[in-house]
Amino acid sequence: MSKLNSFNVPKIIIALDFNDKKNAMKLVNLLNPSLFYLKIGKEMFTILGKKFIHELHQLGFNIFLDLKFHDIPNTVFNATKAAADLGIWMLSIHASGGKKMLISAKKALKSFKKRPLLIGVTALTSLTQTDLNDIGIQISLQDYILILSKLSSDCGLDGVVCPGKEAKKIKSLCGNKYKIITPGIRCLNDSTFDQHQVITPIQTKNFPIDYIVVGRSITASKNPMKKLNFIIQSMQ
Ligand code: C5P
Repeated sequence: MSKLNSFNVPKIIIALDFNDKKNAMKLVNLLNPSLFYLKIGKEMFTILGKKFIHELHQLGFNIFLDLKFHDIPNTVFNATKAAADLGIWMLSIHASGGKKMLISAKKALKSFKKRPLLIGVTALTSLTQTDLNDIGIQISLQDYILILSKLSSDCGLDGVVCPGKEAKKIKSLCGNKYKIITPGIRCLNDSTFDQHQVITPIQTKNFPIDYIVVGRSITASKNPMKKLNFIIQSMQ
């Protein structure tokens, strides 16, 4: 793919998806907190809870708490407030939870002087068109992502998690400041695992992505730091 535009180099969020603290810390201790963000998802948060978030804060990291809330508005309101109390930098909720749920989450952050960025998950990067059809949604995956991005923006969210190739359309729909966070980053020889909408680090140059989320490309690598440096070089 040729370079069509000159976009900023995306910042890197490392998905800390491990099943124990020891392995997670092995990687964390190699990372400079002023260069990388950490994403704590359902696995690590379920195992280690908020104490782990505090420990990572003490090391100087900004945390994306990727719990992808999806529930009735009242529950999401309270959960969002509880998450913001942890002092995290970014929080995810499922945009498909609907307008009332999204507005409720935004409202929950009103009282915080320094609030986390509130990010809507559009379509998981693991989803295919067939997966979407299987749950009764007959529009194209691309339209689905655009509709949920616009809805999230209208409800006051700060950005969305979406496949990189949709970033340009979303920015033109929702504004340039609207944050685009893209998982599914894979180098050419990496296994895609369960991800479907993948892009390589080099391809990120073609899209206005603000942050990439990198997980198994690094965590499943024998030499994570070498791989991380390769990813950084590829995006320049
Ligand atoms: O290992 P891999 O690079 O596939 O990790 C991607 C990370 O991004 C995982 O932690 C996953 O939960 C998260 N994620 C995603 N797709 C989304 C939102 C979050 O893959 N739409």
